[in-house]
Amino acid sequence: MEIELMMSLRDVLKRAEANKVAVGHFNFSDLVAFNAIVAAARDKELPVMVGVSEGEREFTGVCQAAALVKAIRDEYNYPIFLNADHTHSIAHAEEAAKAGFDEVIFDGSALPFDENIKQTRRAIEAIKSINPAILVEGEIGWIGASSAVIEKVPEGVGVLTTPEEARQFVDATKVDVLAPAVGNMHGMLASMVHGDVQKRLNIDRIAEIKAAAKIFMTLHGGSGTNDDDFKRAIKAGMTIVHVNTEIRIAWRRGVEAGLAAEPNEVAPYKILKPAFEAVKKVVSSRIELFSSK
Ligand code: G3H
Ligand code: ZN
Repeated sequence: MEIELMMSLRDVLKRAEANKVAVGHFNFSDLVAFNAIVAAARDKELPVMVGVSEGEREFTGVCQAAALVKAIRDEYNYPIFLNADHTHSIAHAEEAAKAGFDEVIFDGSALPFDENIKQTRRAIEAIKSINPAILVEGEIGWIGASSAVIEKVPEGVGVLTTPEEARQFVDATKVDVLAPAVGNMHGMLASMVHGDVQKRLNIDRIAEIKAAAKIFMTLHGGSGTNDDDFKRAIKAGMTIVHVNTEIRIAWRRGVEAGLAAEPNEVAPYKILKPAFEAVKKVVSSRIELFSSK
């Protein structure tokens, strides 16, 4: 593997930014998805980020999620990094920082712009006083809230972040990473799941925001995005790409297939094998796309 061992997340992102590639960020709620993500990354020998939202980490446990990531680092000396995805309260951000997460996303995107700045600043102060090395990401612009199959585009989605908003937000908060709204959306419409429709991104706006913000940027809501748009978005300045709904769909289909194939089976590790394979397949193809030059 070409990856130098035990690089920090900041260093991994710097290298990705310089190479105009992105680091894939994948969410998990259980050991099946977690192990599938790790297996896909290790097969491709690529650094990877794993994330747990507030709901996901309520299910996995905050310290348990951190322990899983630590186990992979310790056993394989592997560049895997843990993100406290979409964190809405300072208490939850502090909990993740104390547990040893590498990044916290403080998500004030549903708040008015000034209030978002105010709360993000408070969150940064609290998080960095626990661990100054942790990266903090802030979000501006509304892209919806859930990694689910949704019936319609949520109200307010589609309004793009302006370069001026990005500059103001970064200057006022000093976030390490910025998540803007650039045509992306959390979740997938049924038409996206079937592949008839794809999410399209505003590449020019990404480049303009990157020039104004001058920090790492994350593309949220990756599921169902057009492959070419992904590549152009990464070239234009996106250094982290989040994918979740595609993983959840693969997981569910895999569980259903595992149950249907063996109606009398009761060993979870046998029933859940197709779910592992399905998630691994999604992650493999995404991670390869994000890392190709
Ligand atoms: O933070 C998680 C992501 O932004 C995932 O979005 O479910 O549309 O892939 P997605
Ligand atoms: Zn997101």
